[in-house]
Amino acid sequence: MILPIIAYGDPVLRKEAEEITKDYPQLNELIENMFETMYEARGIGLAAPQIGLPIRLFVVDATPFGDDEDLSEEEQKFVSTFKKVFVNAKILEESGDEWAFNEGCLSIPDVREDVFRQPNIVIEYLDENFRKQKESFNGIVARIIQHEYDHIEGILFTDKLSPLKKRLIKGKLENISKGKVSVDYRMKFPNAKKKR
Ligand code: NI
Repeated sequence: MILPIIAYGDPVLRKEAEEITKDYPQLNELIENMFETMYEARGIGLAAPQIGLPIRLFVVDATPFGDDEDLSEEEQKFVSTFKKVFVNAKILEESGDEWAFNEGCLSIPDVREDVFRQPNIVIEYLDENFRKQKESFNGIVARIIQHEYDHIEGILFTDKLSPLKKRLIKGKLENISKGKVSVDYRMKFPNAKKKR
């Protein structure tokens, strides 16, 4: 089932999300719906707050980068099968010199900006079967995970921009919250005027 994606301005995107337990109701169905919703919007990651649930859950599918010519052959091979569910994730470590990557977000349509992040992460999480995992990632995969991880901490990529850039996109963000944006997937806008 495709769920509406919550747009910028909704308080659910600003909450520090809560951990879940194995008996969280219909978790498998929820995960399936999140992937379906993400694919419909042509995203590469989606966090539960973006569908209105303040829980520590996000999904990532980096496979569209499998033929990205900016990546090394080795990295292409790795991303071409990278599809994962992260439950109750905790980033334990970030390292390396920050690098810029042009990020976007399904909750913030039509806004793309360079964001600086460190390239290497160590993350502990539960997979969809609640098995504990501890893994290191780098490059584009780490980047996607860091972006989604921020969502469960109530942080958006636009928070990481310079004061000047923030000022420049302020009006655009306000418009998004009001639904004044053209988007070809289902969204829910917090400040949209009610239709009569
Ligand atoms: Ni996002």
